Amino acid sequence: MSSSYIGSKWSKTLPLLRNAETRRWVPETARLSKGKLRSLLARYETVYVKPDLGTFGIGVMRVRRLTGGGYELRHGTKRATYPNYERLYGTVARLRRGRPYLAQQGIKLLKHRGRRFDVRVMVQRSPRMRWEATGVIARVAAPGKVVTNYHNGGTPMPLGRLLKPYLSARGISRQIRSLKRTGVKVAKVIKRRFPGINELGVDVGLDRTFTPWILEVNTKPDPYIFRKLPDKSVVRKVIRYARAYGRIR
Ligand SMILES: Nc1ncnc2c1ncn2[C@@H]1O[C@H](COP(=O)(O)OP(=O)(O)O)[C@@H](O)[C@H]1O
Ligand SMILES: [Mg+2]
Repeated sequence: MSSSYIGSKWSKTLPLLRNAETRRWVPETARLSKGKLRSLLARYETVYVKPDLGTFGIGVMRVRRLTGGGYELRHGTKRATYPNYERLYGTVARLRRGRPYLAQQGIKLLKHRGRRFDVRVMVQRSPRMRWEATGVIARVAAPGKVVTNYHNGGTPMPLGRLLKPYLSARGISRQIRSLKRTGVKVAKVIKRRFPGINELGVDVGLDRTFTPWILEVNTKPDPYIFRKLPDKSVVRKVIRYARAYGRIR
């Protein structure tokens, strides 16, 4: 695989944490250990636990601290509760099967008809070699799932439509412009650390305050998800740019 592909989520998170502008958009993240997950759960009600080398939402778990004591663990469409931390971590450790994992502050994502959604921002080098956010699309989680990935049952939808219950038309345009600026900023920071990259798919979660939380940065993002938008000019541009830097023929 070319040098433009970076698998490790942790190595892509570090440059974002070290940059003064991007660090505030990164949920607290650590390499998974028994002690780290425990301390994150002391600070946050929900914590995501995910493979360092994962894709498509596979292997992603969500842990939630229950008000009456104990913990809830969700993965796939499974849900189980545990009376104490030892029992919870026993299952997490079994499911991770020795693989490197991360633990990350859970973000309370906005919802569409009761289902969580997040946003994919496509950022690409234009044929004139400038970073440009070329596509923005929301992904709505399948019922009963804690991940929004298209390859995990998620439904891609225009973000503007999903934000209607939350914002005015002007607020929506402003929000989308702001997400694009965030994406371009992230790309510039990642590019300094990994000079081979020409494109990035930034997974952004929005909470009730519309803070953009960077959940993950993909160095080999799927250009074709933008086919799902009614506005076909978006996918055309994404593909035109991808051809210009030789990602697709
Ligand atoms: N910290 C988090 N808070 C809320 N949701 C999250 C968090 N991390 C991941 N998710 C959900 O899980 C999905 C998959 O996680 P991600 O880190 O993008 O891994 P993958 O490489 O499998 O896509 C995200 O798109 C999002 O829906
Ligand atoms: Mg992702």
